[in-house]
Amino acid sequence: MLEQIETLRQQAEQDLAAASDAAALESFRVVYLARKGKIAELFDALRNAPPDQRPVLGKHLNALRTTVQQAFDLKVAGGAQDRPRASKIDLSLPGRSVHAGSRHPLTQVLDEMKSIFVSMGFGIADGPEVEDDYHNFEALNFPPDHPARDMQDTFFLSRNALLRTHTSPVQIRVMKDRKPPVRAIMPGKVYRNEAISARSYCLFHQLEGLHVDEGVTFSDLKGTLISFIRQFYGPNTKYRFRPTFFPFTEPSADIYISCFVCGGKGCRLCKQAGWLEILGCGMVDPNVFASVGYDPEKYTGYAFGMGIERIAMLRLGIDDIRLFYENDVRFLNQF
Ligand code: DAH
Repeated sequence: MLEQIETLRQQAEQDLAAASDAAALESFRVVYLARKGKIAELFDALRNAPPDQRPVLGKHLNALRTTVQQAFDLKVAGGAQDRPRASKIDLSLPGRSVHAGSRHPLTQVLDEMKSIFVSMGFGIADGPEVEDDYHNFEALNFPPDHPARDMQDTFFLSRNALLRTHTSPVQIRVMKDRKPPVRAIMPGKVYRNEAISARSYCLFHQLEGLHVDEGVTFSDLKGTLISFIRQFYGPNTKYRFRPTFFPFTEPSADIYISCFVCGGKGCRLCKQAGWLEILGCGMVDPNVFASVGYDPEKYTGYAFGMGIERIAMLRLGIDDIRLFYENDVRFLNQF
């Protein structure tokens, strides 16, 4: 009987190798593996074998059945994988297009500003958006009853925690952290409790600048900011400085540039003034130096701050600030 088993194994091997389509495989299954197939027949014959040989023969038969079944399963699975797959691929179909994202218009404007200041030797620093009264107001020389501390403007989180209303507190953190010379820009988000409209939003971005060293003068301030204006708005842009007041600088100025839409004649954008206000600046107040532990007799410096949204709106012709935060792809796609 052992010989019969061996012969059947060889036959099955050959027949399985020859079975090349689904019909042949099915008849192979019927001939060898079905309940009345050749392997089952041998199991039946086992009953007539001498009892002392049955365990050994049974083992061989079981092994035969497993081997044939496995070889058969493998071939069926292989065939099933090959054919339908090959037929499902249509090489003539056009590929799927990849939709690449793009930088947000505010990021584009900010990146351009950063690269101008970095090329002039400024580093980049940042600070927390949740601030305390000391950094946002007190160290910047705001008197205790200054209206900017009013609930109308500031989002207070608790008695002493608030959302920063400007990026100027980062000046304080940078100066407390380092000894002069300091030359850095500080971009970031700021928050104000304003009525939301096309012109103002509860969140916007500012870019702060600070340069402190021995012998820094107002002409350094002018030279740096005029160079920035020429690079950012074009070499022929006209500008003017108008005196103003900030608690943390003395003297202080607002800088205006000639309206780039009407060239100064007066239009809707500049509200017929011919000029657009683009930033505030000034020489760091000695009281600010005192609060960060710099010697006001030894060091001087200038600071400036500008709103990114306002500049991006002027630059890109956007007339509603809220568009920046809605993430409507129809808007974003245009930049
Ligand atoms: N912090 C001011 C604001 O939010 C902007 C500003 C003005 C910053 C003058 C400065 C500066 O550093 O010197 O309106």
